[in-house]
Amino acid sequence: ELSPIDKAKFVAAKRSVDYVEDGMRVGLGTGSTAAWMVRCLGEMVRNDGLRIKGVPTSTRTAELAREVGIEVISLDEAKWLDVTIDGADEFDGNLNLIKGGGGALLQEKIVATASDQMIVIADVGKEVESLGSFPLPVEVIPFGWQTTKSLVEELLISMDVLGRDTTLRMNGERPFITDEGNYIIDLHLGRIGNPHQLSMAMNQMPGVVENGLFLDICDVVILGFGDGRVETRD
Ligand code: A5P
Repeated sequence: ELSPIDKAKFVAAKRSVDYVEDGMRVGLGTGSTAAWMVRCLGEMVRNDGLRIKGVPTSTRTAELAREVGIEVISLDEAKWLDVTIDGADEFDGNLNLIKGGGGALLQEKIVATASDQMIVIADVGKEVESLGSFPLPVEVIPFGWQTTKSLVEELLISMDVLGRDTTLRMNGERPFITDEGNYIIDLHLGRIGNPHQLSMAMNQMPGVVENGLFLDICDVVILGFGDGRVETRD
C-alpha cells in the first residue's frame, strides 16, 4: 500500500506514459517520481512490445532503465528526442520550474532542451505561487568554488530575491559531486522575483556551469494527488 505522496507520484507517472508512442526517443528524468515513470515504461516494453530508445539524465536512471528492459542510448546517438518526462522540485503558474534537488540538473536541462516536448510529473506539493521556497541548485566547477560562491552572493544582493543564504551541498563530510564532476551550491532565496534575469546573470559567471531554473522549457505538468486524482496543466 502506497503512502499518499507516493500514490500521487505514481498516478502522475502512470498518466505521463500516455505521451509515449512506439518508436519514440524518450528522455528519462531523475528522482523518485521519474523512477515510477521508468518502471511504467519498462512494463510497456516487456509486456506490450513497446519499442523505444531511452536517454537517461543520470547514472542512477540509466541503471534503472536497463534493469527494467529499456534500451538505453546516449544523447549524441539520439541527437534529438521526441519527449522528455521528468520530475521537478517546484513549478509555478507559467510552468517554470526549479529542478536539481537530486543533483542531476545539468544533464536534465540538456536533455529537456533537446526534446520536442518536456512533460513534468509532480505531486501536488510541488505547485507554488512563485518559485524560490525550494533551494535553487547551482552547479559550479570545483576550481575556485568559494570565489564563485562569493560572486553569486554579490549578484543576489542586486537581485529581486528575499533570502541570500548559500550553502555548498555536502555528501557526509565531503562536497556532493555531480555526474559531471562538479559541485552544487544551493541558494536559499525564499522568493525569486525575476527568474529569467537571475538565471541569465548566473550563467554569465565563469565558474557557473548551469542553474536549476527551467524557464520556458516545460510544456505540460501532470499533477498527482494523494487520493489518486490527476490534473494536467498546460
Ligand atoms: C533531480 O535532479 C531533480 O531535478 C528531480 O527531478 C527532482 O528533485 C524531483 O525529485 P522527486 O521526484 O524525487 O521529488
